[in-house]
Amino acid sequence: MNQSDSQLILKAENLKQHYHVKQGLFKPNAVVKAVDGISFNLEKGKTLAVVGESGCGKSTLGRMLTMIETPTAGSLAHLGEDLLTLTKDAQAKLRQKIQIIFQNPYGSLNPRKKIGAILEEPLIINTTLSKAERKEKALTIMSKVGLKAEHYDRYPHMFSGGQRQRIAIARGLMLDPNVIVADEPVSALDVSVQAQVLNLMMDLQEEFGLSYVFISHDLSVVEHIADDVMVMYLGKVVEQGTREQLFENPKHPYTLALLSSTPQLSPEKRRTRIKLEGELPSPLNPPSGCAFHGRCSYANDRCRNETPALRLDGQELGHLIACHAVEENRIETLAGSAA
Ligand SMILES: Nc1ncnc2c1ncn2[C@@H]1O[C@H](COP(=O)(O)OP(=O)(O)O)[C@@H](O)[C@H]1O
Ligand code: SF4
Ligand SMILES: [Mg+2]
Repeated sequence: MNQSDSQLILKAENLKQHYHVKQGLFKPNAVVKAVDGISFNLEKGKTLAVVGESGCGKSTLGRMLTMIETPTAGSLAHLGEDLLTLTKDAQAKLRQKIQIIFQNPYGSLNPRKKIGAILEEPLIINTTLSKAERKEKALTIMSKVGLKAEHYDRYPHMFSGGQRQRIAIARGLMLDPNVIVADEPVSALDVSVQAQVLNLMMDLQEEFGLSYVFISHDLSVVEHIADDVMVMYLGKVVEQGTREQLFENPKHPYTLALLSSTPQLSPEKRRTRIKLEGELPSPLNPPSGCAFHGRCSYANDRCRNETPALRLDGQELGHLIACHAVEENRIETLAGSAA
């Protein structure tokens, strides 16, 4: 293993999750391609942001990365070790290293348990630490996330939304993970509290060398936290690259539309204003060709018939885009002429 391999925490290749859903008594089962061929590398201490509208497959991807669900196809490796062919025991051990934090800290914390008990539960199940050691660990992690020792004996309902998300983050840290999948971790919080939780996550990342997969429907939320960004549409990646590539030089019409609908971003960054019209098509009956064609002002016959491959943008290392118009240089407004 060379230096760069050893820094690779997660490697996903062509991951798929296809659900078979019943359509009714006399109809054949349909297939929902919730995630349809996703690949990425996540290095130690880095953040991959996964962005797209609700229904694009982000949470499904998160469930596969944390081994809550087994992929239909593809491969997934953690520190070079293939997660999908491990024994159950080895999987259980590895699962401790990849933790998930959900959007809703209200639903994910047991209301009948005190904070101390909530935090120590994973230690009881997975470690041989004594009662005193468990308490010490809980108090240490509580202080890292900005909670006080006196909170140890309180119940979740006594906390605000932001504090509850701190508790959920603390619980995620109890087993010393190296990856955290955060599924819309600030989406349920007031805007004023969002920044505090994001800053906390960035501090914890630095202190513990954590890698994040940060899921959000809102591009502005990930602008400060992401190293790399993956934009998803109906189960597929439409654009993928570094934060700079995605925010300074976005190319895919869907990315441009998501950026245009984000008021917080500075106006000079919006080279092209594209209004996102219509709704996400049903994944039960996805459009032919490019799945975005019904909402895209650049769509032509080729777009309606031929699915664009995710390919490297000629000018930039590592910047991947799946769009015929970008490939054909048809999006003239990217040069800035829309301003
Ligand atoms: N267990 C399941 N069975 C069938 N369809 C599912 C299941 N889970 C998710 N889906 C469908 O997969 C698609 C992606 O869902 P999801 O991953 O939750 O998207 P997101 O998190 O981006 O909103 C949606 O169309 C959703 O209805
Ligand atoms: S491939 Fe065609 S329809 Fe799809 S985003 Fe590009 S221009 Fe629009
Ligand atoms: Mg989701």
